[in-house]
Amino acid sequence: MKIIDGKAVAAEVLLECREEVLALVAQGIRPGLAVVLVGEDPASQVYVGSKAKTCGELGIHSEKIVLPAATSQEELMAVVRKLNNDPAIHGILVQSPPPRHIDESAVVRAIDPRKDVDGFHPENVAKLALEDPGGFVPCTPAGAMRLLAAAGIDTNGAEAVVLGRSMIVGKPMALLLMSKNANATVTVAHSRSRDLPAICRRADILIAAVGRPEMVRADWVKDGCVVIDVGINRIADSNKKSGFRLTGDVAYDEVAPKCAAITPVPGGVGPMTIAMLMKNTLQAARQSR
Ligand code: GUN
Repeated sequence: MKIIDGKAVAAEVLLECREEVLALVAQGIRPGLAVVLVGEDPASQVYVGSKAKTCGELGIHSEKIVLPAATSQEELMAVVRKLNNDPAIHGILVQSPPPRHIDESAVVRAIDPRKDVDGFHPENVAKLALEDPGGFVPCTPAGAMRLLAAAGIDTNGAEAVVLGRSMIVGKPMALLLMSKNANATVTVAHSRSRDLPAICRRADILIAAVGRPEMVRADWVKDGCVVIDVGINRIADSNKKSGFRLTGDVAYDEVAPKCAAITPVPGGVGPMTIAMLMKNTLQAARQSR
């Protein structure tokens, strides 16, 4: 059983990014990313902080815009429009999920698709479906694909099961796996699927992205399966200083022994999401020329 080291693969991606930042700066372009957070969700605060910190380490200009939870739709849209017109900013990300009174889909549509480094704008969703390389691929599924490649997993002709159908992970993940680059046979399963364990047992490659702690058990996977665990769930744990521990969507201890390869949580997909965001920001800066 091979543990796929997301931190190591992310470090590789960041090394590539650092070189590209130098090349862009030499051409007079300082890449810039704006990260917008509305409200005080503790996990989102951590993610947004890590994104800004990684930008700093790579020499990418970053702006962190933190707005109160009571920010109105119109105020948020005004912030997005201002960033659309800011030549120092090549990438814009509004951290999800926003407070409930915000229409997230309207906010995403307001982002200039050329700056939509999350790949959530309908124009970029279409480009992904069309396999147009000029679009932005959502960071988490892009990171999962890179982990499969780094671990030497051949997706061609493989049975891939994507557990979860979210806009951020499940749907784009399915598109990437069925693309002409990957050529997997893809099944998308979700909370309403009739027999989740039976569907998952078919998988050569299982992508767990449901946001349910340790839902995937040992009897859900076949021997030799490759498991990519996208879940990052906070579980109360009084033994931890923070008061919680992180766990994936997979019951790691019982599933890992059956796997050919598996990603841990933390240290698997998580670090890749930020690394791929940096890559997308550089793509945006490059394409702005
Ligand atoms: N929340 C969880 N993952 C993501 C992501 O990739 N982008 C944004 N904007 N919000 C998220």
